[in-house]
Amino acid sequence: MRILVTGGAGFIGSHVVDAFVAAGHEVAILDNFSTGQVGNVNGAAAVHRVDLRDQPQVEQVVATFRPEMVNHHAAQSEVPKSVADPTYDAQVNIIGGLNLLKACVDHGVKKVVFSSTGGALYGEPDVVPADEDHPVRPLSPYGTSKLAFEHYLGTFRRTFGLDYTVLRYANIYGARQDFHAEEGRVIAIFASRMLEDKAVTIDGTGEQARDMLHVGDAATANLAALEKGSGGTFHISTAIAVTVNDLYRKLALLTGYRREPNYGPARKGDVYRIALDNQLARTTLGWEPRVSLEEGLSLTVDYFREQVSSPRA
Ligand SMILES: NC(=O)c1ccc[n+]([C@@H]2O[C@H](COP(=O)([O-])OP(=O)(O)OC[C@H]3O[C@@H](n4cnc5c(N)ncnc54)[C@H](O)[C@@H]3O)[C@@H](O)[C@H]2O)c1
Repeated sequence: MRILVTGGAGFIGSHVVDAFVAAGHEVAILDNFSTGQVGNVNGAAAVHRVDLRDQPQVEQVVATFRPEMVNHHAAQSEVPKSVADPTYDAQVNIIGGLNLLKACVDHGVKKVVFSSTGGALYGEPDVVPADEDHPVRPLSPYGTSKLAFEHYLGTFRRTFGLDYTVLRYANIYGARQDFHAEEGRVIAIFASRMLEDKAVTIDGTGEQARDMLHVGDAATANLAALEKGSGGTFHISTAIAVTVNDLYRKLALLTGYRREPNYGPARKGDVYRIALDNQLARTTLGWEPRVSLEEGLSLTVDYFREQVSSPRA
């Protein structure tokens, strides 16, 4: 199958590209490399250095590659950035996304698989794990832009016949995650700081809990969505809430880190406890997470150990 992966030079998108290439698909990447890295790019994929906001260029990539499937990972993906500059967030995540959808309709794309968020849609959930029907009440412009794009996908399917699957990710972690970023990359930040024997600060009590999914499992969900999940919205998650203190302890053991954590102020607007039910993805996509937290953390520490000793260009 010919598949265009937007954001294919980024953290999750690059693992998805690797999985598609390994499965024998013909892959092209559309990415502006704003957070993506040349070193992440799979050599078998054609690369188009294009910004989603540049409508003629987006159109040209779709018109020339003529993908059957578009896997849409490119985004402004940082919550604090969306709070600081909601207009930029909307320009990339909504307007840029619409440039892509219009090109898909005009050039015969059959389906779009969209990487949405489970963590930023529900606010503090009423039940844990929350399922896909939980009321949505995003706290950030990022959550709102992702939700808006989900609605556009529904409209484009009803009105233009463009099929879609929405994957609402939990917190994804693993190799290639940017450990310099401030937000939401708790495992990448802890692992890299512990390996360099630097002080680690936990925001709040550390008893806040998240659903942490290894990036390898996110990649297999995207493979499943090539054939299944037409018109559906799915949590791609473990359904287990892990506390930040727990992650700290497990990573300290794996890295041989002996220092005690510093506890800082809780972050304003942070959700306290969340996990996402994944029953629908199990039954409809035939997908399930296979990488245990222990295994995933160990793989991630191995990756950051290599980065710390020989950083990427
Ligand atoms: N990391 C997570 O835990 C998580 C959770 C839920 C959803 N997501 C979603 O998954 C997707 C990938 O996230 P990630 O963590 O890999 O982030 P990332 O920043 O590594 O990847 C985003 C990619 O999009 C590219 N990009 C950004 N703006 C662009 C633009 N205007 N035009 C073209 N390309 C552009 C970047 O260069 C980068 O390669 C995003 O849509 C994000 O919202 C991520």
